Amino acid sequence: MSQKTATPPRDGFSSRFGLIAAAAGSAVGLGNIWKFPYIVGENGGSAFILIYLISILCVGLPVLLAEFIVGRRGGANAVRSFKKLAPNTKWPIIGWLGIIAAFMILGFYTVIAGYTIHYFILSITNAFSGMTSEQITQTFNQFSSGYAPIIYTIIFILLSVIVLFGGIKNGIEKYTKVLMPGLVGIIILLVIRAVTLPGAGEGLQFLFKPDFSQLSMSAILDALGHSFFSLSVGMGTMLTYGSYISKKENLASVSCSIAIADTMIALLAGVAIFPAVFAFGIDPTAGPGLVFITLPNVFLQMPGGNIFGALFFLLLFIAALTSVVSIFEVIITYVTEELNVNRRKALLLTTLAVIVISIVCSLSQTPNTFLSFNGHSLFDWMDLLSANVLLPIGGLLIMLFLGFVMKKDEVADELSQGSKSIKTTMVYLTITKFIAPLAIAIVFLTGIQALFH
Ligand code: TRP
Repeated sequence: MSQKTATPPRDGFSSRFGLIAAAAGSAVGLGNIWKFPYIVGENGGSAFILIYLISILCVGLPVLLAEFIVGRRGGANAVRSFKKLAPNTKWPIIGWLGIIAAFMILGFYTVIAGYTIHYFILSITNAFSGMTSEQITQTFNQFSSGYAPIIYTIIFILLSVIVLFGGIKNGIEKYTKVLMPGLVGIIILLVIRAVTLPGAGEGLQFLFKPDFSQLSMSAILDALGHSFFSLSVGMGTMLTYGSYISKKENLASVSCSIAIADTMIALLAGVAIFPAVFAFGIDPTAGPGLVFITLPNVFLQMPGGNIFGALFFLLLFIAALTSVVSIFEVIITYVTEELNVNRRKALLLTTLAVIVISIVCSLSQTPNTFLSFNGHSLFDWMDLLSANVLLPIGGLLIMLFLGFVMKKDEVADELSQGSKSIKTTMVYLTITKFIAPLAIAIVFLTGIQALFH
């Protein structure tokens, strides 16, 4: 084709470290630092962690690997990769669902991400000093139900645009290579601060002491569902990143590194949070309010608390930023390749759309809003529909695609970069065809049920 000479080579990750920083950056997000610690706390400590590890191994990791395989083999955006691997079929629908999920997740995730900027400023300016715990709660309620979050959300989105602007190698990879080590450094500092507080042991016990009596069926489902969200799978994020991975990389080992990094950071977040919560005698089961209400109380009582508080919100900010860019990239790669526009234009169009959706999401949190259906605000619906419906459907379909539709030798080739290792492929395909789809289907059905409660 005459086009061949005109098309510049496709962008891509230039180093293994850059690839892992970007993909682990996607996986490590609000899910790890905000959600994981408190679901562990509520569901029986290390007994829950054990189930979570099994879920990561048997469900999250296989789906992550499947996305990488489809993405690298397809070598294009989430929709076109399926078109290339299964021409004239309906499978590209998986890509479409991913694009819809990307807009929905960005809608609410960027709002919470915007909070982290506000809370960083509050901490560093010592604004909580002298407040009672009611006042801290009030501060949060007033802020989150007002109009100010809109401004922070827009600022956050524009900051992600800076990262996205340079593309994969000179944008996402360049920034995540610096941000992710920074994130690890901050979390280690916070862990040291927390475990050296007098009375920290109780928090560690809460987190790690196995209590199998708390391990209900719903805890197991929580573990499964969260392993999915935490690894950023089910909507083409890792598939899109996979399309930028060089043929030299071993996908199975890259996937394992990402799963290990993601789990380690989640555990460290728990170790940074619970000892402090216990040391100051604050209720550990605060649930979703843990980060913005409980923790400011904790930092207030801690020596050097405003600095550690600011560091904590900086940590959350970085975690959210590297996740948001990965979700954005699904749409940008799609728009660039399918509408045939340059990256700058694709970025502009996508950013405008995301800003509109996020503003609407944020407005649905204000009192007297009409943006609420069936007792849930639009914000909640975006969260529930994406996490409980679109992600599991996406994950299930990708597994079925890999297990039953994609050619076995193509899978083997991607897994072993040419030197076919039949045994690994067979083990992997068994998990892909039967174990993971079954587990995902169960999560999905219970998730749907939860929607109508
Ligand atoms: N994994 C991220 C977290 O733990 C969130 C995230 C980023 C995500 N990209 C995703 C979730 C894609 C699902 C799908 O917060």
